[in-house]
Amino acid sequence: MIVRSQTSHIPPRSTVDLSPSYVFTDAARDTLRSAMLALRSHPYREQPAFRDEVAALVDTGAVPADFRRECEAAGRRDEVARPFHVVTNCPIDLELPVFDAEDPVGDKHRKKQTFVAEAYLQLYAVLTGKPPVSYKNVNDGDVFQDIFPKKSLYNSQSQKTLVSIGFHKDLANHFVRPDYVNILGLRSDPRNEIFTTFVRTCDLVEHLGEERVAILTEPAFYTPYDDLSVYGDKQRKLGDADKHAVINGRYDFRYFEGRTIAFTEAGKEALRVLDEALALYKGRMFMRPGDFVSIANNSSLHGKDVGAIADPEQQKIRWSIKTVNVSRLEDHARHYLAGRPGVVDG
Ligand SMILES: [Fe+2]
Repeated sequence: MIVRSQTSHIPPRSTVDLSPSYVFTDAARDTLRSAMLALRSHPYREQPAFRDEVAALVDTGAVPADFRRECEAAGRRDEVARPFHVVTNCPIDLELPVFDAEDPVGDKHRKKQTFVAEAYLQLYAVLTGKPPVSYKNVNDGDVFQDIFPKKSLYNSQSQKTLVSIGFHKDLANHFVRPDYVNILGLRSDPRNEIFTTFVRTCDLVEHLGEERVAILTEPAFYTPYDDLSVYGDKQRKLGDADKHAVINGRYDFRYFEGRTIAFTEAGKEALRVLDEALALYKGRMFMRPGDFVSIANNSSLHGKDVGAIADPEQQKIRWSIKTVNVSRLEDHARHYLAGRPGVVDG
């Protein structure tokens, strides 16, 4: 369900197009799910084999030809004008276990026996030509990560939180910044107002005007490392983040709403106007099971709005699964663990 401009806090100026570009028919979804259930490799223990097995699905007839064409076109789209690619009624697992709030990732590894959602994310990566990367410090290097609340991080600004998350791009501070964030909804209670939020940076640039854009291009801002990287950095090797510009190039915003600070008065004024623009131009989406969005991480920002919660227990088991992807694996080759291309040492 795409929810746009329905309530008073959805801004009238939102230009974000979250309408699905492709909707699986029930029959095509079920055929693809059956093929994915028959895969033999383990997506967490045998990532390269899993990737190759999913890639081999493409020529079996289980992948609709028009979906293949749609994804190939999405991989070549103008990402500044269209940072968001939405697909709905995607195949997901029929059995969705509930995880222990103390250790949801460990519990997933114990309980999740089918890997349809993982296969869908891998298939999308293959068809768009944008491979996933993983990070040693984030969920121990898993490619497939959960947006699932974890008790110790309930109030953090991370994928494991219960609270709203300010607008940001994923891993903006990291030396391997992903080009895409791909999210597939698995479990969400429609009575709980939890929305994924989106904004195009081209709208922010337009609203800010040339003078403020110039101010935001100066390296006079600071953002602490994201909560999940710090949490996973057991040896405390990350240190402090650097001073940085908010706008890099024309549309790439290194910004975390509520966390990034300015060191100059002009910078503070520019951030105030930027926050105003975020509220004006944002769109949002209620991610139903099987709803998928691919986010171009360098020409947009995203976040999460939590409104009225009718069922707090359901909120604690809301679940989406995601990957972060890059345009070309070889661009980051020097950062990978030895013998493990795509697994970032950091
Ligand atoms: Fe994010």
